[in-house]
Amino acid sequence: MEEKEIIIKVKRYSFDELPAEDRRLVDAAKEATHRSLATYSKFHVGAAILMANGDIVTGANQENAAYSSGTCAERSACFFASARYPGVAMKKIAIAAWTRLHKGEEAPYEECYQDLPISPCGSCRQALLEYETLYGPIEVILYGRKEVVVFPSVASMLPYCFTEF
Ligand code: THU
Repeated sequence: MEEKEIIIKVKRYSFDELPAEDRRLVDAAKEATHRSLATYSKFHVGAAILMANGDIVTGANQENAAYSSGTCAERSACFFASARYPGVAMKKIAIAAWTRLHKGEEAPYEECYQDLPISPCGSCRQALLEYETLYGPIEVILYGRKEVVVFPSVASMLPYCFTEF
């Protein structure tokens, strides 16, 4: 038996420190939060994907009365991106979220964004990994008001991931 250490290297930025291209992508993710349908959770998530052709494709969580029929922002974005541009690589994905649950209905959106980044769920990591396996690394940019965390790839967020059988 031997122990193995898995080290994940991420970059932490303030929003202002981010490269301009990444700031634009985060802004697109924040804008996409307003197209979320968060009837039940009131947690509005947006994702924006930079395609290799330079286009930005966005998605937002879509909830359903039958809870498990809804989907997260990240999957809505990557499925839409692949359906819109089949065969085109996804270079980066930015994710942002806000909720007014703790600050009240009238609080300005900007103040309701999460202080610390939210991170894609396991199913979204697996869905994104499929496109990464096909087309190459997708950088993951997680927006928070206090910090922005950047992972170099989806696989780096999913050690011992399942890619083939
Ligand atoms: N959600 C996302 O869209 N992305 C995430 O990374 C985490 C959670 C959505 C699913 C559900 O609509 C709401 O947030 C609360 O879990």
